Amino acid sequence: MVLNEKSHKTVKTLINASHRKLLQLDTVVPWADGVDLNKPPKIEEAGWLYGTPYWDALTPAQRSEVLWLETARDVSYFIWLEQSLPELYVGYVNKYHGGLSDDVREYLMIFSREEIVHTLMFRRYLETAKLPLWSHPENIPNFSKFEDQLAGKHPVYGIIWNLLIEWFAELNSIYQTQHDIIDPLTRTMFREHHTEELRHIAFARHVAENYFANAPAGEIDEVSDFFKKGYVFLLDEYTYMPEIARFTSFEFPIAIGDTEKIKEIRNSPNNLRLNEARFRDVREWCQKYKIID
Ligand SMILES: [Fe+2]
Ligand SMILES: [Fe+2]
Repeated sequence: MVLNEKSHKTVKTLINASHRKLLQLDTVVPWADGVDLNKPPKIEEAGWLYGTPYWDALTPAQRSEVLWLETARDVSYFIWLEQSLPELYVGYVNKYHGGLSDDVREYLMIFSREEIVHTLMFRRYLETAKLPLWSHPENIPNFSKFEDQLAGKHPVYGIIWNLLIEWFAELNSIYQTQHDIIDPLTRTMFREHHTEELRHIAFARHVAENYFANAPAGEIDEVSDFFKKGYVFLLDEYTYMPEIARFTSFEFPIAIGDTEKIKEIRNSPNNLRLNEARFRDVREWCQKYKIID
């Protein structure tokens, strides 16, 4: 992981910013106020079923329930990802201790510390809002096989994979929660999280872009090829996850194993339009580095 001068400067700036202002679990949101279930946790236009006959058939109470469950999914996936990152990144610090520059090593430690606090915050949110923790995303077909390959590879693989996940997750969260009608605690929590995630995304982009600028062409093709599959997993995951049927108080219109209907939902005109709009930044970056066409 070799960085140019400009990137070293950026990493130092990120380190300073993190030491200056760190998310404090107790005060990040007014926990005692709780959430207001009469307000939505996300805009309905970003609901997974919105714009389909399945959405039209739901009662207002069912729609609200679905939006809160979708938010529980977002929060759950943050927990699953962010509790695995410290292990991966502190692992890099131990394994490559002689080969990392001081600033990169320090930032990997800071990154890990911040993610640990985030997982505590997200768990407290689920408890406060009385929402369920969703299963690990390994129930996406072939996802585990994909993730298992990361451990034995160059650290740039772990950093790029995490970059893509965080980027999708943040674009999704900010797009759907930063509006006046949203439950204030939910809105504030995602905004405060975003402040730290912007730094994580900036760090990972610098590492990845320095790698793409210097690695041999054959090796870059291999990395880009590898993440083609990952990109599709993430797009599917952020468009619709079938496990929601397990949690609703009413019979959900799409059964967990109904692959035809799931495909139809993921390709609904509203979802295609939504993905086009909210994921533009990550899509264009992936196109630039030939991860997607
Ligand atoms: Fe985080
Ligand atoms: Fe992060």
